[in-house]
Amino acid sequence: MKVGTDKIPEADYLLPMEVAGVKFRNPFVVGSGPTVKTVDMLREIERTGWGGASVKLAIDPKYISLPPRYRWLKKEKYHAFTAETRLMFDESLRLIEQGRKVTKDLVIYANFAYAGTEGDEGWIRMAKQFEAAGAHVLELNMCCPNMSFNVVTSGGKMVTLSGASVGSNAEVVSKTAKAIKDAVNIPVFVKLTPEGGKVGDVAKACFDLGIVSVGTTGNRLAIPEFDINNPGNGICHLQDEPTLACFSGPWLKPLALRDVYEMRMKSGPVPNIMGSGGIENWVDSVQMMMCGADMIQICTATMTKGFGILPNIVKNIKKFMDEKGYKSYLDFRDLTAKKITGANGLHLHSGVAVVDMNKCTGCGACEKIGHCYAITIKDKKAIIEPEKCTGCAECTDVCNFAAITMKDTGEIITLAK
Ligand SMILES: Cc1cc2nc3c(=O)[nH]c(=O)nc-3n(C[C@H](O)[C@H](O)[C@H](O)COP(=O)(O)O)c2cc1C
Ligand code: SF4
Ligand code: SF4
Repeated sequence: MKVGTDKIPEADYLLPMEVAGVKFRNPFVVGSGPTVKTVDMLREIERTGWGGASVKLAIDPKYISLPPRYRWLKKEKYHAFTAETRLMFDESLRLIEQGRKVTKDLVIYANFAYAGTEGDEGWIRMAKQFEAAGAHVLELNMCCPNMSFNVVTSGGKMVTLSGASVGSNAEVVSKTAKAIKDAVNIPVFVKLTPEGGKVGDVAKACFDLGIVSVGTTGNRLAIPEFDINNPGNGICHLQDEPTLACFSGPWLKPLALRDVYEMRMKSGPVPNIMGSGGIENWVDSVQMMMCGADMIQICTATMTKGFGILPNIVKNIKKFMDEKGYKSYLDFRDLTAKKITGANGLHLHSGVAVVDMNKCTGCGACEKIGHCYAITIKDKKAIIEPEKCTGCAECTDVCNFAAITMKDTGEIITLAK
């Protein structure tokens, strides 16, 4: 980690917001993970202007915790981790106490999970101690797919379930979250898993019981690229076996946008929703908000690029808002979410593909498209027969020379017609 000393002008990071009485300098929070594990990191997160930091998961009693093993597959645009070190409860309490002493404006989240046999009582005990240690916000970790969910999905057995294993059950999550909320005086946020496919329903169940903010980790458990000549080897350096890995980074963004959209649609316009998954820059962030997010957590990009990405993100969002005349992010939040239409309600335009002969090199890539009878190469140029073209538009993307465009022929096609 490179520690900077420059003072960053407030104009580069201030985009203030308030959630349940907690004031954030901006809606950007460093997501719980390897970049929120030390006091130095918290200091640097504050210096670079972030609104908040969610301290690395604390789990009690000790659970699956190993030295970290990561891969950052740049070409595939995903980050995968197979093993991770969690904080012990005590370590996290000390970190939050010290973090509060060295930071002034940073909102510090306690990200935690109880994995013992006391049920809600165990969660409440941890919650109260985090509150006493000075956490501004509690973030219940109902999201991590790399604990019991990984073990059970890989054919193993776990007596105690934690993270994503419980996070997809609306009844369990909302009941526990409410019990904690009733026991403490600081806001309770819940970070959910999309594993299980019901993230919208679980979010709604939490909001119905009075939870302040619900978010998604975005993370999916998946199998990374592996070497077919050594199919039984692990994909991480210094690891023997292959295992399901926890995926994050840019690859995840489309799925994370959907998670946030589902939560917003199920929960309505009022609740505070946190989006996380593959966010790297200001455009990603605006897209996340347009799909329904109030706040954004970023983890992988802070691992691969450092905390210094924040001022550019905020500066550019402010510029975008000025250009569009938006006074608040609420002016553009949900803009896409509100327009998303089911497959049965679409309005399509009739049309055909057209080739720009000046750009066409006759490379023949478009002629190979397996579902298309419309294209043939004649005299080193692509010729499209309009009557055979269905308007699918595949060829516009297959062509590497931007030689094909779609021409709208004016008819509107709906299921009703
Ligand atoms: C190595 C690693 C460790 C993580 N640990 C935690 C954690 O302890 N608690 C948590 O809530 N989320 C954890 N996450 C999830 C991130 O906070 C974030 O929600 C997720 O990775 C998606 O966002 P990203 O694509 O910006 O990383 C972790 C992610 C990574 C990559
Ligand atoms: S892919 Fe593009 S450049 Fe190649 S033949 Fe088709 S239209 Fe021409
Ligand atoms: S739009 Fe679809 S059907 Fe029409 S030429 Fe292109 S690939 Fe073929």
